Amino acid sequence: SPQCDLQGLWRNELGSNVALLALNVVWTLLGFYHTAVTATNKQILVSPLQGAQQHPSAKRHFAFGFTVQWQFSDSTTAFVGQCFVDRHGKKTLETTWLLQEEVPFHRDTWKATRVGTAIFTCIK
Ligand code: BTN
Repeated sequence: SPQCDLQGLWRNELGSNVALLALNVVWTLLGFYHTAVTATNKQILVSPLQGAQQHPSAKRHFAFGFTVQWQFSDSTTAFVGQCFVDRHGKKTLETTWLLQEEVPFHRDTWKATRVGTAIFTCIK
């Protein structure tokens, strides 16, 4: 089956859309994240992301990670995951994320980090 190319448009089960640009040779990821949901009461803005991917070489399920710098909130989210291609050529990104909120006091750090998983399917 074909190799997984991270470059393209992706959507997760929440309806968030991610546009990824993969700079090969340096294995850098750039893109934009349009989240469908927020933990804030702010208006959602499309936000930039940056990351890195492991050299795909012969591997079909290489690892990658990226961080989103939210433009409308003080939080940041780090995603790590792997790309999979099924035998019909359907690509998915299986990820785990950490959403780090900026809390005003050290005593509040216990509630500063959310964790979750997300599966992205390729929409373009
Ligand atoms: C914020 O609410 O402070 C910024 C937006 C966070 C959106 C989160 S990141 C993990 C989860 N997956 C998504 O697609 N959106 C939410």
